[in-house]
Amino acid sequence: MNISKATAGETTVSAAARADARPIREGEPLLQVDNLGKHFPVTAGLLRRQVAAVKAVDGVSFSVHKGETLGVVGESGCGKSTTGRMIMRLLDPSFGRIVFEGRDITKMSQGRLRPLRRDLQMIFQDPYSSLNPRKTVGAIVGAPFRLQNIKTEQGVKKAVQDLLELVGLNPEHYNRYPHEFSGGQRQRIGIARTLALRPKLIVADEPVSALDVSVQAQVVNLMEDLQDELDLTYVVIAHDLSVVRHIADRVAVMYLGKIVELADRSDLYERPMHPYTNALLSAVPIPDPKDRGARTRIRLQGDVPSPLDPPPACRFHTRCWKAQEICKQVEPPLIELSPGHQAACHFPENTTVSATDEVSRAAVAPGAAPAPGEPPSGPAGTPPPGV
Ligand SMILES: Nc1ncnc2c1ncn2[C@@H]1O[C@H](COP(=O)(O)OP(=O)(O)OP(=O)(O)O)[C@@H](O)[C@H]1O
Ligand code: SF4
Ligand SMILES: [Mg+2]
Repeated sequence: MNISKATAGETTVSAAARADARPIREGEPLLQVDNLGKHFPVTAGLLRRQVAAVKAVDGVSFSVHKGETLGVVGESGCGKSTTGRMIMRLLDPSFGRIVFEGRDITKMSQGRLRPLRRDLQMIFQDPYSSLNPRKTVGAIVGAPFRLQNIKTEQGVKKAVQDLLELVGLNPEHYNRYPHEFSGGQRQRIGIARTLALRPKLIVADEPVSALDVSVQAQVVNLMEDLQDELDLTYVVIAHDLSVVRHIADRVAVMYLGKIVELADRSDLYERPMHPYTNALLSAVPIPDPKDRGARTRIRLQGDVPSPLDPPPACRFHTRCWKAQEICKQVEPPLIELSPGHQAACHFPENTTVSATDEVSRAAVAPGAAPAPGEPPSGPAGTPPPGV
C-alpha cells in the first residue's frame, strides 16, 4: 500500500489545540496506567443507596510505548472495554492513575481534555451501530475536523477523500450512506474517521469481532499498514488470542477485572505461565493441520464468577485445575518472572520461579501448599478434562 503521512488529513492546528502537548522523553511510555480501577455502584431502594459494586476493573497497571501495540484479551465481562473507555476518559476511573505523554489525565476536566481528544481515539467493535445511518460517509469522516474546529489545508472534502483512499475505499463514494457498504468497508470508514485527526493513541475495542473471518484479516492488515505509515500506537482489545496474535507486540491477559499475565507476544504464545492463558491459548485454532495434534483443548469448567462478588485471593481459583489452599487465601501478585514477562500465579507454568512472594509464603501455614513453582499434586492438581 502506497500511503503517505501527508494524505492522512494533515491539518492546520489551531494554536490552542495542542498547546500543552510536549514531546515524550526518551524511554518514557506514551501511556502509563497505574492501579486503575472502576467499581460501578449498584443501588437499591427509593433513596438509591449503594448496596454493592460491580468490580469491573480492579487495579490494572501497564504501559504502552510509542509505535507499540498492546493487545488486551480475556473472556466477556472481564473489564476490557471498561479499561479502554477509562483510558479514553469516556468513563471516570474509581481509582488509579492514567498518564498520557507524561501528563496525568486521570482527573483532567473535560474542558482541558478537549485538545487531547484528537490525540486519543477509539475504534469501536460494531461497524453497524457506530456509524450514523442518516449521515453520508463524507459527513461521518469529516465530523472530527468540524467538531474540533479544524480547517485542513486542502479543505474538509479533499481531506476526507484522501482518508477514504488511505483505508482502501473509493473516494468517489463520499456521498454514500453506511448501509451501502459491507461490514468490512464500514469498519474501514470507522478507521478513516478515527484517523482524521492523526491521533497518537488508538484504542481499538474488538475492531474485527463483528466481521466475517475472511474480512477480519484484511482489517487487521490495514491497521498494521497504517501503523507503519503513520507511526500509530494501538491498544487492541479482543476476547481471544487469535486476533491479537499478528498485530500485538505485547499482550495483557485479563480475568475478572485484573491482569493475570503480561508478556511479549512470542513469549506469551510460546511459554504461557498462567493457567488461564494456557486455557485461552488452547482454544486458538492451529492453521497447519500437521500441528493440530500438538495441543489439547483445555475446557474451563463453570462460568466466570460475578464481578459483584469475585472469589477471594486468586480470582481464577474456582476454575483452575491447579488450585491449592494458598490460591484461596493469598492473592498472587503480578510480578516479573522472567525479563519482560509478568504473571500472577502461585504455580506458574514454563518457569521455575513463582509469583508467590515472601509475603504470601508467610501468610499460609507450612505444609498447606507445595513449594512455590513446583507442580501441585493430588486431586487439586489434576488437569481438567481434555488436558
Ligand atoms: N455502566 C455499567 N454499570 C454497571 N456495570 C457495568 C457497566 N459497564 C460494564 N459493567 C460491568 O462491568 C463488567 C466489565 O464490563 P466490560 O464491558 O468492560 O467487559 P468486556 O471485557 O469488555 O466484555 P465483552 O468481551 O463482553 O465486551 C461486566 O460485568 C459488565 O456487566
Ligand atoms: S495455580 Fe493457583 S494462583 Fe495459579 S491460577 Fe491456579 S488458582 Fe490461581
Ligand atoms: Mg467489551
